Amino acid sequence: MRLKLVLTWKWMAGIVGLGIAGALLISWSGLVSIAASSGHWSVTRWFLGWTMENAVESQSLLVSKPEGLDLDDPTLVLRSAAHYATACSICHGAPGVPQSPVVQAMTPSPPRLEEKVSEWSDEELFWIVKYGIKYSGMPAWPTQDRDDEVWAQVAFLRALPGMTLGQYAELALRGEPTGIDFAQGAESAAAPDGVVENALADCALCHGRDGLGQVDEEAENAFPAIAGQPAPYLYATLRAFALEQRRSGFMEPPASRYEPKVLEALARYFSAQPNPALATVAGPGAEFRGATIDLPTDSDAVDSPLVARSPEPFVPPLSSWPDEAGILEREDDVSNPMTATAAPAGLVTPRERLLELGRRIAVEGVGPLKIPACQSCHGRSARKNNPYYPYLEGQPEWYLSEQLSLWQTRRRGGTVYSHIMSEIVQNMSDNQIAAVAAWYAEQPHVRRRK
Ligand code: HEC
Ligand code: HEC
Ligand code: HEC
Repeated sequence: MRLKLVLTWKWMAGIVGLGIAGALLISWSGLVSIAASSGHWSVTRWFLGWTMENAVESQSLLVSKPEGLDLDDPTLVLRSAAHYATACSICHGAPGVPQSPVVQAMTPSPPRLEEKVSEWSDEELFWIVKYGIKYSGMPAWPTQDRDDEVWAQVAFLRALPGMTLGQYAELALRGEPTGIDFAQGAESAAAPDGVVENALADCALCHGRDGLGQVDEEAENAFPAIAGQPAPYLYATLRAFALEQRRSGFMEPPASRYEPKVLEALARYFSAQPNPALATVAGPGAEFRGATIDLPTDSDAVDSPLVARSPEPFVPPLSSWPDEAGILEREDDVSNPMTATAAPAGLVTPRERLLELGRRIAVEGVGPLKIPACQSCHGRSARKNNPYYPYLEGQPEWYLSEQLSLWQTRRRGGTVYSHIMSEIVQNMSDNQIAAVAAWYAEQPHVRRRK
């Protein structure tokens, strides 16, 4: 009995061994048809399609849609529209955009998605867009850390079947005007003009030429504002995207399309754009318009850490921010009707209570939890002295809370100072994050017209 079993195992091992040797022999012979031109036999095509569908179906069981996510949200659709135009339509086409004969000669050739998306559930589409499909040319999302972006892309796919050419052009292509006003900022950069112009048109697809990212009534908060941020912050941030130190499937492609010189010109240009949210004529970024941005000496040395223009030491004050200069009065309370109504007793709505909590965190911090007052770095006077502190006023609420959550789970990189935020956020609760994001989003600005 025992002997028999051993023999059987030996036989099986032998057969497997022979099979492997046979497969190696066939591959070695060089006779396997790998030509895309010959397509697949219909049985092979069926088999591969069936395998793919089964895999997506089973593996997407682990995907769970975040609570409260609304795939009809026009902001999500807009957030991912231009990415679709630059990253997907080359293969899949788009409303009014035919597929090129080149991609049609792929095996398998990418299907037009208008006709296909209804066959998949939301979770399945998410799975396909996040992980991609091996051996087919269908790429994975550039980073595995940003499910929020993948969901936005799924929202766009859901909107695709009913989309007209006109709607698509407006969402994704923005009817870019010709001629760029370089009067403010970018003219000093010694980059070849055409390249910077093209690059700017590229950024404008999402951020607009004014850097405010607004398009229409419904979805104007789809992108963070970059107008008036200090040029060194913008430049270091763009390099962080390009070097994958800050992860975003939407931003890594545009940031890595251009060399450092061009990114520098873009940083200067956007930092010189006025942001009405800041209630100043030119954004505080303008103060750093001429700031030294340390560029790698040759474009190969891209890994060299950016040397900061010696910012003051980053020691976050742990309790309340004293506001000795009366900045708060000038900057927040006077110009902001929100705080005026929220501060006195009688906060009725949950929203008001949330905003009041947000205000307290931003202005006073939470000493016992070691959460410093955000304004001690992000307030106007602190920003004046440091070109790496971004302003937060008027940024989209979803954007602020998403960034804070990313830091909390250590998935948000950035400039060389990114670790500061990472430490601060560790002690914050979800509710505190929501509150402070809501408060900053509500600070005076004209972007939201609703
Ligand atoms: C280089 C070409 C290429 C690019 C770029 C590309 N895809 Fe694909 N995609 C494919 C191919 C090929 C398939 C078919 C795979 C298969 O049938 O196994 C596919 C399949 C899909 C499917 C499944 C459709 C179906 O029913 O078979 C979805 C959804 C999809 N792609 C979405 C996207 C999105 C969103 C983007 C942009 C982020 C994108 N693709 C970028 C080549 C591409
Ligand atoms: C396809 C849309 C798209 C394009 C094109 C695009 N961006 Fe962005 N940008 C985004 C999104 C979305 C974010 C938010 C990223 C995140 O969630 O982390 C962002 C973030 C940024 C940030 C970080 C803002 C902050 O406050 O930290 C900068 C800087 C930026 N973009 C500059 C640019 C520049 C310059 C270009 C052109 C080279 C460009 N972007 C092109 C969509 C885009
Ligand atoms: C000690 C200084 C300091 C304090 C205090 C501070 N921050 Fe920051 N914050 C920074 C720096 C520096 C960055 C830029 C990080 C990077 O991208 O590299 C930043 C970036 C951010 C960003 C991302 C902005 C963008 O455009 O992407 C958010 C959101 C933010 N901080 C929120 C907060 C909140 C909320 C608090 C208070 C709880 C806070 N910060 C306190 C220094 C500080």
